[in-house]
Amino acid sequence: MQVTLSNQPITAVSADALLILQFEADGRPATASYDAVRASNADWLNEVESSGEAKGKLFETTILHRPQGFAAKRIALAGAGDAAKFDPAGLRRLVGAAVRKAKQNGAADLALALDTAYATPEYLSAAAEGVHIGAYEVDTHKSKKDERTELASFRILAASGDAGAVRRGNILGESQNFTRGLANEPGNILTPPVLVERARAMVRASEGLEMEVLDRDRMAQLGMGSLLGVAQGSPQPPFLIVVRYKPANPSKDHLALVGKAVTFDTGGVSIKPADGMEKMKYDMAGGAAVLGAMRAIAQLKPDVQVSAFVPIVENAVGGNAQRPGDIVTSLSGKTIEVLNTDAEGRLILVDAIEYAKRQGVTHMVDVATLTGAIVVALGHIHVGLFSNDDGFRQQFQASAARQGEKMWHMPLDDDYREYLKSPFADIANIGGRWGGSITAAYFLKEWVGDTPWVHLDIAGTGWIEDSKPYMPKGPSGVCVRSFVDLACNWSK
Ligand code: BES
Ligand code: MN
Ligand code: ZN
Repeated sequence: MQVTLSNQPITAVSADALLILQFEADGRPATASYDAVRASNADWLNEVESSGEAKGKLFETTILHRPQGFAAKRIALAGAGDAAKFDPAGLRRLVGAAVRKAKQNGAADLALALDTAYATPEYLSAAAEGVHIGAYEVDTHKSKKDERTELASFRILAASGDAGAVRRGNILGESQNFTRGLANEPGNILTPPVLVERARAMVRASEGLEMEVLDRDRMAQLGMGSLLGVAQGSPQPPFLIVVRYKPANPSKDHLALVGKAVTFDTGGVSIKPADGMEKMKYDMAGGAAVLGAMRAIAQLKPDVQVSAFVPIVENAVGGNAQRPGDIVTSLSGKTIEVLNTDAEGRLILVDAIEYAKRQGVTHMVDVATLTGAIVVALGHIHVGLFSNDDGFRQQFQASAARQGEKMWHMPLDDDYREYLKSPFADIANIGGRWGGSITAAYFLKEWVGDTPWVHLDIAGTGWIEDSKPYMPKGPSGVCVRSFVDLACNWSK
């Protein structure tokens, strides 16, 4: 289903429901579409306003069946909250919530009236994204689907507007859902070889991407002892995949997106507690995010070269698993004392980071469900953001802000280095009890070196714990939009 743009008058559109934004304070400032509802349905509108049924609070919906003077079957006043605080992120969520509600209420054909003030490219794209994000379902493996009506069409009604922005929104929303679909798969179904095949299918279906797959033998030959140490406990083979996008005219910059993909994380010999362990199926959400971003980048064709690096392993327990105290040699030659086999994400990432550097990348962003400590620090609201370069960090944060993805800048001072000291190897893979998300980031920084870099810890944000009006409980697809925005607004 593709969201489309239409300049049909809102009264003439036949739809199961026509969405009209209603801001707080009796719908003031009233928009032209809100006034149009009043023009032919004044009694109803006055009644729901004065009774307090329709206050315009965010995510509130008030339905009028068979409105006068409209071809649509229903008008749905969509609460938009305080007009002064309304922004594209608000519209994205509001549309997502409306779609979720429509699916429960048997409405398949929807239209959204967007007044001129809200018909800018940012709002148009956000609205289209919101449709896809809200329509996403997590019950792929249920033989009888939860009761709902599938969305058949969604039109954005605007007198004038940029159809390219709506197209962008469709691509972003679908790509975010591609990522969510991967992250939602359980560990027995999405094994490392299956993830490689899913990536390959995406690359084949996209125009302008190339893919390289490094298997265990190739990685052993190169000397990726850190990644292979994590993989050795599992009968599942490990992979490092590289997905490449090259613009028509070669760019001087080359952006690397590196994403952790542990298809299931038991913790290894330093095994995790049973409670909640099932969630470790989404320990590949970082890898899924960079693949989703590449899917969108292939269609939007930015001017900068982008390569995705995804190290894929299962962190299992078994007779062959690595032991606490093992010392491994990473691709860069640096040795690591593995004090805790559950700190495996950083071990696979550093070999991918070194491999990326050898491909001549000029900028790096990595994304990983890396630490429980970031969940303690920021909850499920903000992505933890770390960087070694203020300029690049600000450039990335501007993308995240435009996309309404909340990220919090965390410290990464050199004082943290001493937490990672090992008497037996160049570095230890854990830093002890305190500042766990920072020492994890610092560990990566040791391999990144001077390349401008941003690290994103999505352990708390890659999975939505409680369902939201605009999103079901499950994988969020966070970071996909920010990555695509970064590539599409590249300026250096
Ligand atoms: N995959 C986990 C981190 C995680 C925790 C993701 C909660 C999603 C939700 C990671 O591999 C891990 O186990 N980290 C350890 C590191 C510790 C051993 C230093 C952690 O955070 O407990
Ligand atoms: Mn772990
Ligand atoms: Zn993990």
